[in-house]
Amino acid sequence: SAEVKTTSSGAAANQQKMGSDGKTPLYTSGGGHPIQDDNNSFTVGDGGLILMEDFTLIEKLAHFNRERIPERVVHASGQGGHGYFEVTKDVTHLCKANFLSEVGKRTPILARFSTVGFESGGADTVRDPRGFSVKFYTEEGNWDMVGNNTPVFFIRDPSKFPDLIHTQKRHPAKHTKDPDMFWDFLSLVPESFHQVLILFSPRGVPVSPRYMNGYGSHTFKWVNKEGQFNWVKFHFKTNQGIKNWTHQEAVKVAGESPDSAKEDLYEAIARGEHPSWTFYVQVMSPEQAETFKWDPFDLTKTWPHKEYPLQEVGRLVLDRNVTNYFNEVEQAAFSPSHMPPGIQASPDRVLQARLFSYDDAARYRLGSNFLLIPVNKPRHKAQNYHVDGLMQCGDNGGSGPNYYPNSRELYPNAPRPDPAVKYPEPFQVPAGLAGRYINKKWADQDDWDQPRALWEKFSDEDKEQTLSNIVGMLAPCQQFLQDRVVGLFGKIHEDMAAGLTKRLNAAKEGKAKTSQTA
Ligand code: HEM
Repeated sequence: SAEVKTTSSGAAANQQKMGSDGKTPLYTSGGGHPIQDDNNSFTVGDGGLILMEDFTLIEKLAHFNRERIPERVVHASGQGGHGYFEVTKDVTHLCKANFLSEVGKRTPILARFSTVGFESGGADTVRDPRGFSVKFYTEEGNWDMVGNNTPVFFIRDPSKFPDLIHTQKRHPAKHTKDPDMFWDFLSLVPESFHQVLILFSPRGVPVSPRYMNGYGSHTFKWVNKEGQFNWVKFHFKTNQGIKNWTHQEAVKVAGESPDSAKEDLYEAIARGEHPSWTFYVQVMSPEQAETFKWDPFDLTKTWPHKEYPLQEVGRLVLDRNVTNYFNEVEQAAFSPSHMPPGIQASPDRVLQARLFSYDDAARYRLGSNFLLIPVNKPRHKAQNYHVDGLMQCGDNGGSGPNYYPNSRELYPNAPRPDPAVKYPEPFQVPAGLAGRYINKKWADQDDWDQPRALWEKFSDEDKEQTLSNIVGMLAPCQQFLQDRVVGLFGKIHEDMAAGLTKRLNAAKEGKAKTSQTA
């Protein structure tokens, strides 16, 4: 008989099995058994009971019951696409990362875009920040750029993150979105108002990921070959132009086509209209950081472009749709801690906490071997001594050693650390007394001048839309919350307080009239 080729695990090599006509792929059970009929259960006579012997049915129902994995605790509703990153400008004086080593160099990427607060399946036209995640499959390990479509965020200390998210999700009893808890939390955390202003501005509901920018938001560190570093911020500017829905359009589209953004991106890529973004960095030297007007690591602040101009680096292009959403998007695990040599974290407290949080989430959501799932695998094989664990589907280190250090005499081909690799590059940290501190700079700096500058840049139409978007969400709230929120917007600009008060009063009068006539 013909010899059967085996893999290292002893199972038969993966060949496609054909049916009796020799050309139609045979339908099989998970264990490879042939299936004769998958529409009629195995019963005693045509009107009788199903037999336990109907293993095909049992397997099918049991597998179906286990199709769901935990969805992401935030950013659950998403979409993705594959493509590449190409270097267009030499930045080797700033960053030693190998994928940036020469102009023209291309690196494969996966991008995932998401809304934040809704569950998987939520409408694409909700007023919510959008996630902007890019996995660069570099030769030195994956770089996950896990950002948003806004350059700032609601909080600057990570301890507030779970509370922030609870208030943007569902009420514990009603299981609905709740304007009271939304505004209660945000108005007790006033550093959020820069992000809140952007959220309610005409940029709050992008038409699709193709028409929005992406930002790393945090400050990161770029280190060059000489070990010198600068602080940087990442910007990905859309080359399709910015397009957003107004509130009225968003409500309509949510009803007619809740998957509108997913359709838009998928269909554009399928048509060959490959969306692209230009990647820029803002660069701040360590000396400039000392005298910067705000805390340079405060996630609620931007760096003025006039002082810190955008410097081009390259472009991102999406040119291939995913073939299987679950495999390539749902199972994708992005983490800000995945950075190749040359890119490092800053002291931003929120970033520091995110370095822990994402791989922890992936271990819960996908299991301890999540890095063996094809979409998460690095470009070069991971070589280490992590073994076993649920769903181990790699070679598991084969028969090599499962410990380190080990002797070259015994294991000449075993992986070994390389002292030539400086990763992370060592850096100086000012020592201090450990404790729970409010950053001194936050207490001294003005938290209102950046949102004020943004408000002053808005056109009259932008201002009108912003005020009416806020009132839409604020009018159903309790009076004391309305007063507190209006007071805080008044710190951005007195025109905001006046405009909101006028519109809230009009909304109240309208309601009173409706109830009189009812
Ligand atoms: C997703 C935690 C702040 C952008 C997630 C997930 C967690 C998380 C646990 C789900 C990950 C998964 O299941 O794979 C946190 C914590 C934060 C924080 C603890 C602050 C303390 C931020 C900020 C940004 C951001 C500031 C943007 C600048 C994202 C994005 C995703 C995400 C884009 C979706 C990733 C994907 O596409 O799969 N976050 N987050 N998060 N977060 Fe955060």
